Amino acid sequence: MKFYIETIGCQMNVNDSEKMAEILSEYGCIQTNDILLADFVIVNTCSVRFSAEHKAYSLLGRLKEQKEINPNLIIGVTGCMAQYAAKEIKTRCKYVDFVLGAKDINSFSQTVTKYVPKETEVNENKQENREVFKYITIMRGCSNFCSYCIVPHVRGPEVSIDYNEIIKEVNKACDDGIKEIILLGQNVNSYNYSGVNFTQLLQKISQIDKVTRIRFMTNHPKDFSDELIEEIAINNKICKHIHLPLQSGSNNILKAMNRKYTYEQYKTLYEKIKNKIPDINITSDIIIGFPGETDQDFQDTFNASRQLQFGGLFIFKYSPRPKTFAAKLKGNVPLDIIKKRHVLLLEDSNIISKNINEKYINETVEVLVEKVNNGVAEARNSQNIKVFFDTKEKLTGEIVNVKITKVLPNSMSGILQR
Ligand code: SAH
Ligand code: SF4
Ligand code: F3S
Repeated sequence: MKFYIETIGCQMNVNDSEKMAEILSEYGCIQTNDILLADFVIVNTCSVRFSAEHKAYSLLGRLKEQKEINPNLIIGVTGCMAQYAAKEIKTRCKYVDFVLGAKDINSFSQTVTKYVPKETEVNENKQENREVFKYITIMRGCSNFCSYCIVPHVRGPEVSIDYNEIIKEVNKACDDGIKEIILLGQNVNSYNYSGVNFTQLLQKISQIDKVTRIRFMTNHPKDFSDELIEEIAINNKICKHIHLPLQSGSNNILKAMNRKYTYEQYKTLYEKIKNKIPDINITSDIIIGFPGETDQDFQDTFNASRQLQFGGLFIFKYSPRPKTFAAKLKGNVPLDIIKKRHVLLLEDSNIISKNINEKYINETVEVLVEKVNNGVAEARNSQNIKVFFDTKEKLTGEIVNVKITKVLPNSMSGILQR
């Protein structure tokens, strides 16, 4: 039996998809990258923005046609939208075989036994593509309730995972040849399992000899400790990249978003990090068009982006989400204004990021090669910037030096140094 998984949304979902793929492989199923060849398709959904939900429904629409041609096709819907909108999915897409919410992912194994024939041979074939990095979930859910965000409503309250389990998983990943561990949580800074905090968890993981590189995401400015800054500065296994979502540069909007910090507090933290870790790359998220966002509020965000000079900025158009507090707020910003503000900030922030990357021109950077396709290697430096270079060698999983010759806002390219 061949299966295909479409993953929409964040790394939490990527991680869940990996777990489902593992289980299906244990049942003897083989993963395919071609949805048309699959007998079993899983759509792992996200509900963070309307567009993410729309994507799932369009795919489900196409799967309806595929099922008309192949009535044996099994379709499962999992993830965050499946968590809160199971009923709607079942009504809109009657041909779907099962809907399993993000919180119930642990019962996936039980669910598939209903659909995967028992006589299938156990598939011993390990994946051909060598995996270089592995996502490891260190906490589930979120208890922050930012007023725009659906995640706490669909993933439930924040729960930290036993560090013994995490360390077991890290060890296993390293034994499988993984070079980079990426720790995941909606707010890793508030990790706490029986008195062990996030900094201590990082220390425990970096003490494992086999671990080469550690990354983590995402951070919340309200919980980022001095102790953590110190640890990142001195620990050379920890990559020098921090994703630190600002969301808005206006204190009025930050308050309405329930982010629990002011712009000034964010800026103080930002500068402290930059001073203590000079080679750090800080990236951020911004939401444009939160209810009540005035021209002045937007100008504050625009100015913040100029003042802080992020290495990379993800800019999202506000999307009202069911169950959230913000969905009830008045002061809808018209779409054409949101679009204008989005373009203004995007163009400006791209120039900033590109200028920041310019400092790498003619510099040699150390990168971990993630894949090589048709003679082009795709790698990443410690700062999480994508680096491309030409090579005829099989370098996947190797750490090599590359002299940078060209930069773009979100990537760079160069020449392999030997
Ligand atoms: N826990 C993480 C990120 C969760 S979602 C954090 O706190 O940063 C990733 C990003 O999506 C958020 O940082 C936010 O910028 C954006 N986002 C979340 N809800 C949104 C909404 N309703 N509309 C637009 N963007 C949203
Ligand atoms: Fe959503 Fe805020 Fe939690 Fe991030 S911290 S997942 S934005 S509620
Ligand atoms: Fe992630 Fe989307 Fe769920 S961002 S936690 S997959 S709502």
